[in-house]
Amino acid sequence: MSDLYASIREACDFISSRAKIQPRIGIILGSGLGGFAAQVADAVTIPYAEIPNFPQSTVAGHSGKLVLGSIGGVAVAVMQGRVHPYEGYTPQQVTFPMRVLGGLGITSLIVTNAAGGIRTLLHQGELVAISDHINLSGINAAAGPNEDRLGPRFFDMSAAYSPQLRKAAVAEAAKQGFTLTEGVYLAVLGPSYETPAEIRAFRTLGADLVGMSTVHEVIIARHMGIEVLGISLVTNMAAGVLAEPIHHDEVMEMGRRVEAQFTALLTAMVPQMDALVSKTDSGKNSG
Ligand code: HPA
Repeated sequence: MSDLYASIREACDFISSRAKIQPRIGIILGSGLGGFAAQVADAVTIPYAEIPNFPQSTVAGHSGKLVLGSIGGVAVAVMQGRVHPYEGYTPQQVTFPMRVLGGLGITSLIVTNAAGGIRTLLHQGELVAISDHINLSGINAAAGPNEDRLGPRFFDMSAAYSPQLRKAAVAEAAKQGFTLTEGVYLAVLGPSYETPAEIRAFRTLGADLVGMSTVHEVIIARHMGIEVLGISLVTNMAAGVLAEPIHHDEVMEMGRRVEAQFTALLTAMVPQMDALVSKTDSGKNSG
């Protein structure tokens, strides 16, 4: 697995040669949410295709660019688009960009996604702070030989989604005039959407949201001791909640509809996160 370490260094060196920025916060933009990258000041944009060892997205709505610059005076690295295991990528390929964000030195991460709403009180277009996850994707991105330079073999996931960052996000949303509810995200492999029976089962398990991403990046972020804020956009109600089929188009459309709210929340959170994480340094994960 020393190859992994060398591959990460190669990608980081390439990025550093293009952008003289040491990002403190990483942001991963999910389906339909890529427009947020326009908020980055003094942006240096690098297509994934140019970065050594980076996987290429095959999904509509995932443009595949790394944008480095600053938001509110804080250096950020924004991933506009991600790859998913259902595209045929290995868990290691899916999380390679996350490894590179860690290699560039980020101390906290905002991970976002489009999700189906399982909890019936949620509604389409609602933003939800992820409080925890259930990984039913069938894979764990940290499986395989452990690279001790990156993190420990066994590591804690009991506060995978940082309570302090979540609390700050909920407070910021209230300040901006909307309610940011909290919910448990359940990950499936996809690409098929779920059956109504699966959604009923997931509800019984304690899930509020369902999606096909995020948990892999969060596991790898925690392996590296990075603090995580997770935000889901409920793009549709999950299968069987409403008597309607689910379309990828509505997933994309909903992203555009909430863009202003999503942008305001994330823009305000970046400097707050930087202050909170550098003060406590609580992202350290010794396993
Ligand atoms: N299920 C799984 N993934 C999703 C959904 C869904 O209903 N909506 C957006 N991503």
